[in-house]
Parts: sequence; structure tokens; C-alpha cells
Amino acid sequence: MRKKLLVGNWKMNKTPSEAKAFALGCKDMVDYAVAHGIDVGVGPTFVCLAAVKENAPKDLIVAAQNCHFKPNGAYTGEISIPMLKEIGISWVILGHSERREYNGETSKVCNEKIKALLAADMTPLYCCGESLETFEKGETKAWVKTQIEEGFEGLTAEEAKKIVVAYEPIWAIGTGKSATKEIAEDTIAFIRGVLRDHFGAAAEEIRILYGGSVKPGNVREYMSQPDIDGALVGGASLELDSYKGLIEGLVG
Ligand code: PGA
Repeated sequence: MRKKLLVGNWKMNKTPSEAKAFALGCKDMVDYAVAHGIDVGVGPTFVCLAAVKENAPKDLIVAAQNCHFKPNGAYTGEISIPMLKEIGISWVILGHSERREYNGETSKVCNEKIKALLAADMTPLYCCGESLETFEKGETKAWVKTQIEEGFEGLTAEEAKKIVVAYEPIWAIGTGKSATKEIAEDTIAFIRGVLRDHFGAAAEEIRILYGGSVKPGNVREYMSQPDIDGALVGGASLELDSYKGLIEGLVG
């Protein structure tokens, strides 16, 4: 049985004091999620990670939005896995479409990062998803298959199980135009099939989230689908009220 998961991707939002206020205010809702067997987390910016980690209940997963695959060195502006680990971070979001578009992050680079994270006993949250053009051409499945295969390249089934995947159609991110539950389920079931081809039964243990304009009002629809294990949420994860609404939607 895959455990439900909600992760808020804060992107480039919140100052450290704003992030701290969220962390201090989320205890009741995190307890409520835990009591219902749901994992919940947020992905603050690097400068907010410590503030959230130090002030949030220990059950709140705190994820970085990126990392480098090398442990140290001449990589100006980068953050390494040992740096994250030392401040208690054990999850990292990788391959988000915004990082792919604006920062040249490729699936192959994500694969290096995934391997480095797994070696450090950390959890990669690997994002995939197609553009509107690819969707309209009917090439979504071929596109995400390549992203998944490149991201998971060279891993064992034991390693693959430790990764969380998020399917986020780019045309649904921040647009208010969410994918229907049928489209989301169809693609996510397909992704699970690709994982099954490579890793066998381990695919049944890999959590796959939907992301793209998920709100408290539509999250239940996605959760009703057999292959969708939770949500990666941007805009609606920023405020405590709305985040609470998302958790309630996951509870059912
Ligand atoms: P959104 O973003 O919920 O604001 O559409 C989702 C994401 O980019 O992870």
C-alpha cells in the first residue's frame, strides 16, 4: 500500500521570516495528516530551509528545490548534498519543468543527482511532464517515457523504490488549467507501466504524484484515481489555510 503524499513546492516565494511563520503555524495540520497516514512536506528556497526545519514539527518533510551531484568544489552558486544533510534536509525536488526551462536541467543531470542522493540515503522527488505542444501532438507518453528512463538509468529496483515521481504537465502549471483526472491517471498509470518494465514489482511501491493547478477544490478528484498517490502543489501550498484544505482533500 503506497502512503499518500502532499508536497508544497514554494518555488521562489517566501522570505525566511514568512517561511518560519508557516512552520510555526502548521503543527495541528501536520499532526492531522500523520494521524490519517499521510506524508506532508514543503519545498522552501535554500535560504528558508533552516528556518522551516528548525521551527516545523519533525514530521513535516522539508525538501530542497535542487542540489548539485558533486559533494563540493568550484561550482559557484550551487548547493551540495552534504550541505543539505548537515541541516537535516533529506528530500530534494529534481527536474522541475521551470528548472529544465530556465536552468538547463536535463534528465541526464537529474540521473546524476538521483544517484548522489540515493548514495547519501536521501529521497529524490523527480518531476516529469510535457509542454502544451507535445500534449497537442499526442506525444505525451513518448516524452515522459524518455524523461523517466533517463532519470532512472542505471538504478536497481531497490534504488528505484526510494524515488518519488511527480507528473506535471507544463501546460497545467500555474495556469489554473489543471489536467482532468482521467488525463492525469492515464499518464501516471503509463509511467508506472514504464517503471514496471524496468523494475518489475518495485513499480507498485513507487509513489507518483500529480502536479499542475492542484487546489483544495480539485485534489480529491485526483486522489480518487488508482495510480495517483498524492500531489505536488505550487500556488495553493503557500498559505496555511489553503495547505490545510489540500490535506483535507487527501484525507478524503
Ligand atoms: P501550481 O504549480 O500548483 O502552482 O500549478 C505546481 C508545480 O509547479 O509544482
